[in-house]
Formats: sequence, C-alpha cells, structure tokens
Amino acid sequence: MLVVAGPGPVADLVGSAAAAQDLSVQTTSDLAEAAAAWTQANVVFIAEELAEQVAGRALARRGGVFLVGSDDSALARWSAPLGAEVIPLPSGGAWLGAVLDSGDARSGAPILAVFGGSGGAGASTLAAALALAASQQGQSSALVDLDPLGGGIDLLLGIERAQGWRWPSLRTAEGHVGDLRGYLPQLDKVTVVSMSRESDVDVTTEPLRAIIATLRRSHDLVVIDVGRNLSTASSEAARISTRRLLLAVSSVRGIAAAAQVRQRFGLDEAELVVRGHQAGTVADVLGLPLAGRIPHNKALPAAADRGDLAWLSARNPYLRACAKLLAQRPRP
Ligand SMILES: Nc1ncnc2c1ncn2[C@@H]1O[C@H](COP(=O)(O)OP(=O)(O)O)[C@@H](O)[C@H]1O
Ligand SMILES: [Mg+2]
Repeated sequence: MLVVAGPGPVADLVGSAAAAQDLSVQTTSDLAEAAAAWTQANVVFIAEELAEQVAGRALARRGGVFLVGSDDSALARWSAPLGAEVIPLPSGGAWLGAVLDSGDARSGAPILAVFGGSGGAGASTLAAALALAASQQGQSSALVDLDPLGGGIDLLLGIERAQGWRWPSLRTAEGHVGDLRGYLPQLDKVTVVSMSRESDVDVTTEPLRAIIATLRRSHDLVVIDVGRNLSTASSEAARISTRRLLLAVSSVRGIAAAAQVRQRFGLDEAELVVRGHQAGTVADVLGLPLAGRIPHNKALPAAADRGDLAWLSARNPYLRACAKLLAQRPRP
C-alpha cells in the first residue's frame, strides 16, 4: 500500500494501523515516487495537505484511494478530483482499521505472471527484469521461479551463492505462513524464490498458494516466472495471478507456439508482450491486447550470463520498457 504524506498525524495513523496488521507500507511525500507506485499499490492513502499536488498530477483513475485529514472543506474539495473516498479525522480513525482489514489491502500486492510463448523467448529474463524495475522505482518485489528445469532464476540475478531457502525448503508450506523475507535470498529490494539445481521439486497447489500469499503481504509486487510446462503449479499461477503477460517472439514459429501456450494455459485474459517487430500484427493474430513491446538488447545475454542483470542501469532501453509495462493500469 502507498501512503502519500509528509511526517505528521496522517502518516503516523495509517502507518501504525498498517503495522498492527502486518501490512507493508510505502510512505512518501515525493510526488514522482508516488506517481511511479500509483497503479501498482493495492490501496492508496493521501494526506489532505498533499491532495492538491497529487490531483495536479492527473494520475490514472483507480479504485481503493482514500483521502485522510481533519479539514472538512479540503476533504470535500479534493475527493472528487482524486476519485477518493474520505476518511475524516479524528472520527474516521476508528474505521481505518476496517478499511485495511477489508479485501484490497489484506489480499496484498498484485501478482504478475509471465508466460513464455516459445522456448528461449526471454520469459525468465522479463520476469527478473520486471522485479528489478519495480525495485529501481523504490518498490519491494518478490520473484518466484516455477520452472523446474530452468536452471534456477537466482543465477540470472547472480545470487546463486546467496544463503537462503529455495523451493525444496518451502514445498511443504501450507496455510498462513509468516514473513519469509529473512529466510530467502535477496538482492536490493527483490526477494527471490528460486528452483534448486540440486533437486527438482514438484511444487503443488497448497504450498504455492501459501508462499504467494505471504509474499504479497510483505511486498509491493510479486512476479512469477511460470515456465513452459503445464504443471499443477503453473496452472495455479495462471489462476491466482492478477495480471498475466504472454511474451511472444514475432516470428512465424514464435507466434504459432504462443498461440498454443495461450490455449493450453487458458490465457484468454492475458496481455501480450512482443519481442520483435510488428507488435500490433502479432497481437491481432493472437487475439490479445498488446501491453507493450520489448526491444532486442545486445547487452542482455552477456549480462544475464554473468548474473549482472541487476546492474543494468534503469536507463537501459530494456529496463525502461519493463518499467513502462509495470506502469500500465492492470486490466480489470
Ligand atoms: N530482449 C532480449 N534481447 C536479447 N536477448 C534476450 C532478450 N531476452 C532474453 N534474451 C536472451 O535469450 C535467452 C533466453 O532467455 P530466457 O529469459 O532464459 O528465456 P526463457 O525463460 O523464455 O526460456 C538468454 O540468453 C537471454 O539472455
Ligand atoms: Mg525460463
């Protein structure tokens, strides 16, 4: 969740209510930072003293926005331009807890699942780069690897030697799992749940649900690298994700394979990401809305091989394309 407030009563009140419920909060008075986190946050609270400035940014309309403060006229004035519900203080403080406990905030961060349309399309790279792009914008993200034969996504980030659990340690998880951040390998603000190279694991539905549920409570975004084999875990990932991206290479075989993946995983609600040219035509052929195009980037294979992906600059065109994908409003 995002709290747009300077130091003061609103930040304190929302912060403590969120802490009481073990929710992760990004608090900022920096409008650029707030704008970057705007679409991804599950709920947004805006302190009245920043209402005018946030409204001035004309950000995309979204649900789950609350305007908090004690000045009734300011609340009345800015609630419509922001599309926000009003929480007047001090009386509304009591139901702040209820707002946090209800649906949106409780269910947690968005879950973005990445599907590769064909072998070597670049799905793992895209999933890792989306998680990195979120972290470069100041958000925390979790990257979850579901490809048992992908070699482990920790390699892509160069943290294959990092201490911490991989799927084999998590495969019996169930129910409510506490915050795992201290146990998992991390790089900057990216927490990684990787497959292991030592033993392959058949991740089943219940552990996947339990791990994703805890990750989305403690991060701003969860990205899943689904892999290409149809397994219990990959079908479940397709089901529980809040946004599905199908990455297709624009070649005859790339499109043919992507059409099969789309059908097998039942990705009728997916958005298309095209690697290559003529993205619009590829989207038409596959019958999916185009979320964006990612460039071929000569620096990528070597960076990925060295585990240097995380050190690519945010200005790198590939990472910029990823940031653009993230900034899009998820389809309802
Ligand atoms: N946009 C891109 N430009 C250049 N090379 C890329 C791009 N995306 C991925 N690659 C390279 O393609 C290869 C396969 O990528 P990977 O992400 O492992 O694909 P997948 O997970 O779909 O099998 C890797 O060598 C990777 O570095
Ligand atoms: Mg892969």
